[in-house]
Amino acid sequence: MGSLAQLNHYYLKYKHLFLPGLLAAMASAAASIVVPIVVRQAVDTIPRMVANYRAFEGTPVGDYLYARFFAVLMGFAGVILLLSFLSGVFSFVMRQTVVVASRHIEYDLRNRLYDHLQRLSHGFYLQHATGDLITRATSDIEQVRRYIGPALMYTTRAVVIIVMAMSVMFIISPVLTAYALIPMPFLGISVFFVARMVHQRSDALQEQYSELTSRVQESFSGVRVLKAYARESAEQAAFEKESAGYRERSLDLAMVDAAWRPVFLVLVGLSTIIVVWQGGRLVTEGAITLGNIAEYIIYVALMTWPVAAFGFVISMVQRAAASMTRLQRIFDAEPEVSDGVQTNEELKTVQGSVTFQGVSFRYAEDEEPVLKDLSFHVDAGTSLGIVGRTGAGKTSMIELIPRLLQASEGRVLIDGHPVEAFPLAVLRGSIGYVPQEVFLFSETIAENIAFGRMDASEELIDRAAEEADLLANVRDFPEGFKTFVGERGITLSGGQKQRTSIARALVREPSILILDDALSAVDVQTERNILGHLRRHFGRRTVVIVSHRISAVQDADQIIVLDDGVIAEQGTHDVLLAREGLYANLYRKQLLEEELAAMV
Ligand code: CTP
Ligand code: MG
Repeated sequence: MGSLAQLNHYYLKYKHLFLPGLLAAMASAAASIVVPIVVRQAVDTIPRMVANYRAFEGTPVGDYLYARFFAVLMGFAGVILLLSFLSGVFSFVMRQTVVVASRHIEYDLRNRLYDHLQRLSHGFYLQHATGDLITRATSDIEQVRRYIGPALMYTTRAVVIIVMAMSVMFIISPVLTAYALIPMPFLGISVFFVARMVHQRSDALQEQYSELTSRVQESFSGVRVLKAYARESAEQAAFEKESAGYRERSLDLAMVDAAWRPVFLVLVGLSTIIVVWQGGRLVTEGAITLGNIAEYIIYVALMTWPVAAFGFVISMVQRAAASMTRLQRIFDAEPEVSDGVQTNEELKTVQGSVTFQGVSFRYAEDEEPVLKDLSFHVDAGTSLGIVGRTGAGKTSMIELIPRLLQASEGRVLIDGHPVEAFPLAVLRGSIGYVPQEVFLFSETIAENIAFGRMDASEELIDRAAEEADLLANVRDFPEGFKTFVGERGITLSGGQKQRTSIARALVREPSILILDDALSAVDVQTERNILGHLRRHFGRRTVVIVSHRISAVQDADQIIVLDDGVIAEQGTHDVLLAREGLYANLYRKQLLEEELAAMV
């Protein structure tokens, strides 16, 4: 439960809502507590007055008594209505303050979570499933909100009603009070267990629902594969299975939900019967009046919901505590990559030389390193080509440069300074990184390109598109740069997507440009065009090109052949060919493939 303590400062922050809310809760409870007292008075006086005026019926005294009776009756009715109305108004105020406060806190908490998630490293996301993070941001926050708002409100109201009702009842007759309260503990306990069952089952339902939705989402986004492999009917069967699971869980929940009402009603009925039975005995002994019995019955009815609420609230608090613990685990995750103590604010620009000094990297503590003791140097304004088998570690290696990953051993330097010394904004602002997997937003082409630089002018976007060899394509699109891509617009080809992604990096006019297999989906001619455009910036921009195709790297100032996490060969195209090693092999294979392709 300790995890919930850290929410306490929110009570302070929103005290202007919580204080009136709690006062309103008390006032509402107090108003409803007075109603039974008035009813008792009415029950005790009205029959007597009726008997009085009946005795004088037909005489002026009778008329007078009738008028008095009628006035008193209306008086009672008025007071009861007024009290009920007041109770309702206060209850409205209570909800409007406490529930509103809980929504504000939910908003604060969710934004804090999102903000924190944004600052967590790439490494954090490699370790956490997206679905889990979405659950944190939605259902866990909702649990916590319920604790902050409704739980607090119910508890306050319940305490006030129970304490006040019991005091009044106790003053009237301690004995009858003791009898009337016998079923109450059972009510509280049974509601607690029922609530726990309801909660467990609704969690299970929720989980089944997310499984169902991710199944649907996956089969829709993978529809191409699904159809190509004619797996529709298998997918349909799998869906029906999940769907049936969902129905089972819903029925489970509906069952408990329906079963607890009779239990509730039986216990309330039991209390009432005890009051009538024992109360009747006390009335004949003259210890209490009939009005007291009416009063008791109302009190018992009034107390049942607060007592039940206790059981409910305890289960709610348990759930909120579990959710808060899960949330806290995320809040505790340090933004792995942040402007640390070593940050040197003087470093405002990047020239572009890149040095690796004995760099090793592993994805997890207990795993084999995927990069082993890499050392090399790239002068500012020169180019580096990286080739290697799939899984050799090329992507891992270049992600160390913009600090998307953090070296486990050794140092990565830019302009002779460790990358950690640069403020992150400077470091990443100077690097144009085109990842291996293209990601485009459902926005216009222009917005997708300008994502790399929000203030980019049209001219700049135009130039970036031209350098990425995308301009001619864009001109053919129905609305040019304003054409929407993705779900809301046209579907781009693999090569067009890749080039949009390259334009996004170029628009930043970076000092270091990193292309991770970013030309894999374009033909050799387009590759040549793009590389030609990049060449214009030679001397002023460091370019790192990862490729499976020798043609993309052969003109680079130096080439590294990565094999199983180590540098197997290093040099220029000509030097490497002369070595007759991995590189020369790869080159010959590709030449052969090209020749074969040209023959058909
Ligand atoms: N790897 C990992 N966890 C990740 C990413 C990669 O354990 N989140 C492992 C891979 O299984 C692989 C090694 O790290 O064994 C190197 O991966 P990567 O750097 O992505 O290899 P690339 O050379 O980029 O491979 P490709 O050419 O296929 O892109
Ligand atoms: Mg890769």
